[in-house]
Amino acid sequence: MSIQLTLRQFEKVDLLKTATQLHRLNNLSKKFGREIYIKRDDMTPLAMGGNKLRKLEFLIADALAKNAKIIVTAGAIQSNHVRQTAAVAAMYGLECVALLENPIQSNNANFLHNGNKLLTDLFGARCVMCDELTDPHAQMEALIESLSLSDAYVVPVGGSNALGALGYVQCAVEIAEQKPDAIEFDKVIVASGSAGTHAGLAIGLQELLPKSQVIGVTVSRKQPDQVPKVTKLQDELAQLLKLRSVPEVTLWDNFFAPMYGMPNQQGLAAIRLLAQQEGVLLDPVYTGKAMAGLIDYLENSTEKTPILFIHTGGAQALFAYSDISQTIG
Ligand SMILES: Cc1ncc(COP(=O)(O)O)c(C=O)c1O
Repeated sequence: MSIQLTLRQFEKVDLLKTATQLHRLNNLSKKFGREIYIKRDDMTPLAMGGNKLRKLEFLIADALAKNAKIIVTAGAIQSNHVRQTAAVAAMYGLECVALLENPIQSNNANFLHNGNKLLTDLFGARCVMCDELTDPHAQMEALIESLSLSDAYVVPVGGSNALGALGYVQCAVEIAEQKPDAIEFDKVIVASGSAGTHAGLAIGLQELLPKSQVIGVTVSRKQPDQVPKVTKLQDELAQLLKLRSVPEVTLWDNFFAPMYGMPNQQGLAAIRLLAQQEGVLLDPVYTGKAMAGLIDYLENSTEKTPILFIHTGGAQALFAYSDISQTIG
């Protein structure tokens, strides 16, 4: 059975309605003398967009099938995932409870209240702070217990279990359909955090565009810890979709220092480049760092093959990081 048909067996709610754009980055292509395309998942149509809506199509359908009344999830104060989850919960008349951490221990007012946090509050989520998300699943279960929440459905950090990652297998189907006939993407670059986006794309593209190698740029943890996360999700997806093989995991690991949630100079330079060359907004935590990886590769590679960058969203955080970014340069 084709992967498209297999995907149809899973219940989903339709949040995207139509495919996101896949288009050429004309000025960047000219600058680097090769075909560079972008998939605009920053422009998914709800809550100012982002990659989590694809995962939520499957996760919310599951929550509704289980008669959940409350969605519980977790992430950083500036989590794009929590923002999108809060919006979708509101849309389906569900309560949203979010367990939040402050990974960079910032007291900056914009970081604490602006950007994603402003929107998460606006969508009506009930936010509970914790010192650190060391074991998010156990911490969410403890929260459900302590707040006596009934009919709660736990959406994992980043929406990244196998069910959520199906959203990015679906995205691979879209990419295969949208790709210009004359273009064969050699590399597909994506930020790799909770890993559902990376794993879903890698599994989907292995089936549909096997010559396109997915490369994750680490944004949350170093390669030795990230490889098992991606591998585990790929294995679970392969089982869910009854596939025999999984792709090798490839990561670029030099672009997320000093830590998750803290911008760096290369990432900020990449944000400025895309804004000023293409009018495209990246973010300081995920896509800026992923694009920094791509730019470094483009500057140092002699190959001329076409490349696809997956824009997973996050520009809302620009407003939260405005002061922090200025101190970095
Ligand atoms: C803007 C953005 N890009 C990329 C990612 C990483 O995606 P994943 O968690 O599926 O690895 C996230 C995760 O929160 C995100 O918000």
